Amino acid sequence: MSHTITVLSGDGIGPEVMVEALNVLDAVSEKFSFKISRSEHLVGGAALDATDNETPLPQDTIEACEKADAILFGSVGGPKWENLPPDIQPERGALLPLRKHFGLFANLRPGSCLPALTHASPVKNELIPNGFDVLCVRELTGGIYFGDPKGREERDGEIVAFDTMVYKKSEIENILHVAFKAAMGRDKRLTSVDKANVLATSVLWRETANEVAKQYPEVTMDHLYVDNAAMQLVKRPDSFDVIVTENLFGDILSDEMAMISGSLGMLPSASLGKVKDSGLYFGMYEPSGGSAPDIAGQGIANPIAQILSISMLLRYSLGETAAADAIDSAVQKVIDSGLRTGDIFTGADGETKANTAVITAAIVANL
Ligand code: IPM
Ligand code: MG
Repeated sequence: MSHTITVLSGDGIGPEVMVEALNVLDAVSEKFSFKISRSEHLVGGAALDATDNETPLPQDTIEACEKADAILFGSVGGPKWENLPPDIQPERGALLPLRKHFGLFANLRPGSCLPALTHASPVKNELIPNGFDVLCVRELTGGIYFGDPKGREERDGEIVAFDTMVYKKSEIENILHVAFKAAMGRDKRLTSVDKANVLATSVLWRETANEVAKQYPEVTMDHLYVDNAAMQLVKRPDSFDVIVTENLFGDILSDEMAMISGSLGMLPSASLGKVKDSGLYFGMYEPSGGSAPDIAGQGIANPIAQILSISMLLRYSLGETAAADAIDSAVQKVIDSGLRTGDIFTGADGETKANTAVITAAIVANL
């Protein structure tokens, strides 16, 4: 079996973590006898630097992604590019167009806290004796991020700015199917989050969720308003299984989930497009955390989010399930062994501080 992926390492800790994480990919591809051909391309600040600030997403990067089975993304952005016009800043000018161009409508963001790492969570430990494991399914190509009209103009002598939150019923159905299917593979519980007491889009969202639910009788669904969901997540994160919500709410709730899970450096994410004939998704896979310019270049960043992003890529886009399982269990073993990068190190008995390369080598050794 042979697969093609495009690697976009980006900025900050992206490149140094990616170099290490690709060692894991090489090791599993050898162990499970499949070939990966991969090409690396510029994105984000790295692309701006190379194009004299013309674009954070060059055409040849897009073309390389079009030819691939999946995109493995690092992270983009940093202080160097913060004062450029918003449309060409690394985050907005590269991430959002990639999502739109490839129709990556389903963003899966696991927010889990392993029982061994509850001390790193800001949630009171007595509330999460066994950690938690929530999956946020965020709609990624609709809603207020992309709705028309969007802009600013003068009205009655003053400037007004406006964004439009708009959802087609089909967009809501598509993301709900992804969420229900995810719930079927987990604990079969789904929480749909909206603001149906205020927003027209949310009224349609809730109606549609109730309709789609009929096709998944085994899944128990409930609805929460987004403000209440934000509260319940910090109070009882272990009571959630899968959460599904629209783009902006998902942006906010998934950051909250990442924070309460203790370390952003542990969390991967997948942005999935349409299902291909093979039954697999085209997708883009990236750590949930950012480019962390403050620690870039020191070789101390946690590589686990990037490594687990490779696991998600293998599972959803390449169908290499055994290799994905092997990575997940190797990561688990390394955490259980006490090795920790600085972000999750507390100095407790049994913990050993380790850098990016040491953690990765331990994961490779446990495959
Ligand atoms: C995310 C980020 C992006 C978003 C930004 C960088 C455009 O916050 O992936 O959650 O808002 O979607
Ligand atoms: Mg965000």
